Amino acid sequence: MGVNALLRVVVVISGRGSNLVALHSKAKEQGYQIVGVVSNQADAPGLLYAQSQALPQTLVGHASYPTRALFDAALAAAIDRYQPDIIALAGFLRVLGPSFVRRYAGRLINIHPSLLPAFPGLNTHARVLESGAKEHGATVHFVTDALDGGPIIEQARLTVLPNETPEQLAARVLILEHTLYPHVLGRFASGQIALPETRAFT
Ligand code: GRF
Repeated sequence: MGVNALLRVVVVISGRGSNLVALHSKAKEQGYQIVGVVSNQADAPGLLYAQSQALPQTLVGHASYPTRALFDAALAAAIDRYQPDIIALAGFLRVLGPSFVRRYAGRLINIHPSLLPAFPGLNTHARVLESGAKEHGATVHFVTDALDGGPIIEQARLTVLPNETPEQLAARVLILEHTLYPHVLGRFASGQIALPETRAFT
């Protein structure tokens, strides 16, 4: 990244895109720019948002690729066209293979709705309530081969309320996510978190 250049972020989605909206609306104040949105789902509401904001976007429909390796390669090609400094997964629902993950080591991050390493995987809010845990929250972490297991960058937490439903808990965690994720990108943008020197496509 050159001096004075804004950190270039590609956001990768599969669905609703509320984190994309939050990341986009706080980009300027946090010192980064969203240079592209990539989705594997044609009907992702997040893609409509990207269109409405004239954000450059690419669809890489996973059903068009016979193997995960071919899908991963197409996804990487779509991402690299935007020349990002950092790739932010935001509700992306495909598991990425080891060579994709290695290609973007240190610049591929994800947001997960639990306090990792607790509750990796899906349906975190219901599982938290079943477990009786008193605390819950969200985690931004580097993506590695280990599903939801990469190094933790930052977390935001809340106290689970008595008699809360999974939906109520999910809504409160989502509010935390919408502050946490832009904040973490701001830390990358200001150099508080270092990025690897060389980008995969340079
Ligand atoms: C968020 O809860 C995020 O933590 C998880 O998937 C959900 C995506 O929501 N990885 P949205 O598409 O950003 O609204």
